[in-house]
Amino acid sequence: MSKKILLSGVKPTGAPHIGNYFGAMKQFVNLQNEYEAYIMIADYHALNFIQNAGEMKKNIINVLLDYLAIGLDPKKVTLFKQSDVSEHTELTCIFDTITTMPYLMRAHAYKDAEAKNKEICVGTFNYPMLMAADILLYSPDIVPVGQDQKQHVEIARDTAEKFNRIFGQTFKIPEPMIMKDMEVVPGLDGRKMSKSYGNIIPLFAEYEEIKKAVMSIVTDSGEGIPKNVYAIHNLFRPASELLPLYESKASKYKELKEILIEDIEKFTAPLREKRKELAKNIPKAFSILEAGGEKAKKIASRKMEEVREKIGVKIY
Ligand code: ADP
Ligand code: TRP
Repeated sequence: MSKKILLSGVKPTGAPHIGNYFGAMKQFVNLQNEYEAYIMIADYHALNFIQNAGEMKKNIINVLLDYLAIGLDPKKVTLFKQSDVSEHTELTCIFDTITTMPYLMRAHAYKDAEAKNKEICVGTFNYPMLMAADILLYSPDIVPVGQDQKQHVEIARDTAEKFNRIFGQTFKIPEPMIMKDMEVVPGLDGRKMSKSYGNIIPLFAEYEEIKKAVMSIVTDSGEGIPKNVYAIHNLFRPASELLPLYESKASKYKELKEILIEDIEKFTAPLREKRKELAKNIPKAFSILEAGGEKAKKIASRKMEEVREKIGVKIY
């Protein structure tokens, strides 16, 4: 029996933090055995935020090394770069013609930018259409994402349904997959861990950096279990071990943080070392990405042929 298909994407926008790891990256590693998996580096999505060639290139290389370091196996997963498969932008252009502006105005990302009175670019407004194309070209069964991306997967589903209604059955309707229990990893200040809040623990941080970050986790004054420290700690150890520990050390915040530092170090040090090894041979990492792009392109171009036929532009 053939395996079900999984597709997801990551924006190369900077060093990953443990929120990205537990909320998204780790899922791919866990699922790569079970599914036929496609993981894409969404560089054209990132272009909305990074408009500097040097930085873009550096970020793409970094995200490639990050994913190989956490254990994505190129023998099992097709790892590729969005810009290597031009069908993504081509399909976006077609989806634009069946999608209304008021519909896209309901997207969270757009509404947030509007609320902040930001002058939003067309690429950001259209972000969900490019993401719909990313997804639908590969007919995935599931799309693992963090909670904040769920709406985008729903938009992809709506877009597939609408296209199918207008032009006939073409796209499979994908399911979002949100990892339970760890939907939102809290940051150092208790808000969602996010690069944009500056409240992160980088996944590949060196020991001293981990120490500094953990020591700055905000602890609520008063007795008992420090909520934020516990929530982060719980990513590395089950509650059955943590609860007795936190109860026996109630209000001993510094001691608890010291244990957390060691637990993070124990978990991340091997990943960090592997990443350093991989960084010594960048051409080898590139060849993985290139081969992935060729494989993805075959699938995407077949789907685009079907789309062109359905919309009536394929006349010979
Ligand atoms: P950031 O908010 O730091 O910019 P991104 O938006 O680049 O993070 O998120 C990349 C992926 O990691 C997404 O799938 C997102 O849902 C997931 N993610 C980010 N932050 C968290 C978090 N604090 N908890 C769980 N998942 C997260
Ligand atoms: N928009 C996603 C993010 O910001 C990244 C992404 C791009 C993606 N294309 C995708 C995720 C397709 C899943 C499927 O995290």
